[in-house]
Amino acid sequence: MTDSPTVEVHRGLAGVVADTTAISKVDPESNSLLYRGYPVQDLAATQPFEAVAHLLWHGELPTPAELAALEAQERALRPMDERTRRVIDDLPLDTHPMDVVRTAVSQLGGLDATLLRDGGVLDPELNRGRAVHLLAQLPGIVAYGQRRRRGLEPVAPRDDLDYARNFLWQTFGEVPDDVVVDAFRTSLVLYAEHSFNASTFTARVVASTLSDVYSAVTAAVGALKGPLHGGANEAVMHAFAEIGSADRAEAWLDEALAAKRKVMGFGHRVYRHGDSRVPAMKAALDALVAHYDRPDLAALYDTLESAFVARKGIYPNLDYPAGPAYHLMGFDTETFTPIFVAARVVGWTAHVAEQQAANSLIRPLSAYTGPARRDVPR
Ligand code: ACO
Repeated sequence: MTDSPTVEVHRGLAGVVADTTAISKVDPESNSLLYRGYPVQDLAATQPFEAVAHLLWHGELPTPAELAALEAQERALRPMDERTRRVIDDLPLDTHPMDVVRTAVSQLGGLDATLLRDGGVLDPELNRGRAVHLLAQLPGIVAYGQRRRRGLEPVAPRDDLDYARNFLWQTFGEVPDDVVVDAFRTSLVLYAEHSFNASTFTARVVASTLSDVYSAVTAAVGALKGPLHGGANEAVMHAFAEIGSADRAEAWLDEALAAKRKVMGFGHRVYRHGDSRVPAMKAALDALVAHYDRPDLAALYDTLESAFVARKGIYPNLDYPAGPAYHLMGFDTETFTPIFVAARVVGWTAHVAEQQAANSLIRPLSAYTGPARRDVPR
């Protein structure tokens, strides 16, 4: 069957429906992304990130008491274990921040004593706690990743700040104006979940072997790192730096397309007429451009977008506005994809729980194209 020449091969699993999910829906017809039924742009406009995390994990928006309980649990789990700091400090200063995050997440699994308990790997209650633990730890890890590259000490978390504010506090040692916080919170909500994307599918593959949630998230971080996926937000900013200014955008683009280079931040496997998350993130970027008085950046953004759409008919994805937004906030370019991790960990852990609740080992077939059976030379 697998080496039959007539077998239909779905390269990249394009168009393949691998399982059901109740967590989110990408609807190309209405061009919308729904988290548990709610349009993501409406959630981004109205909800704290913690409420969206509760929604994705539990299926419903939290009551005020449930939200308060989640906030208290997450804030209590923020402080970094000294052993995690040592693991990070052992890495060279020029280690890519995504590698720092991947290493630290893996270490958190090694530090979780409950994993040693019989049955602990699949215990839904323990896994809910582990998901909150990972969420709470990631801002400190990402923030310290940036600070140590700048020769700065880590900043201790504050339990009087929400998730988005504390993330910015731990990164910069101050809480910026609300316009900045709001743009950052918006990005976290928009990045939190996106059905069977490459990193989420990776997490589900790992979970399907009955491995633990830390292993699934570690693998997902690795999948997110690539420029065809989460690494694109970083790549967008590298392209902006290379272009320099709006008047050079068209010439740069012509050269890139002639060299058959992909232009990062454009295109999507699912959305063919524009990524439904872009308008909300573009509005957040516009607010930042006004706040930081950077019309030059907006001009470069608009010129490259118009030129690319005119030439290729391919629209921006979320990474296109998110990259420049993080740049304006003051994040190092290499920190952009780690921020994506600290948001998407919610989606990953929701999918791990869903996979574990009705597990079937994920193991596709392949069509063999190597040599026919032959004898080993003697
Ligand atoms: N730049 C230039 N050409 C592109 C781009 C792009 N960004 N995106 C698609 N194309 C072209 C391809 O070259 C291809 O052309 P061809 O048929 O002449 O060979 C055609 O459009 C189809 O592209 P594929 O890569 O085959 O489409 P696929 O669905 O596999 O890819 C992907 C989707 C990987 C996202 C692609 O659009 C891409 O590489 N984009 C740039 C990377 C990026 O921004 N990734 C972020 C994804 S969203 C996220 O992670 C939040």
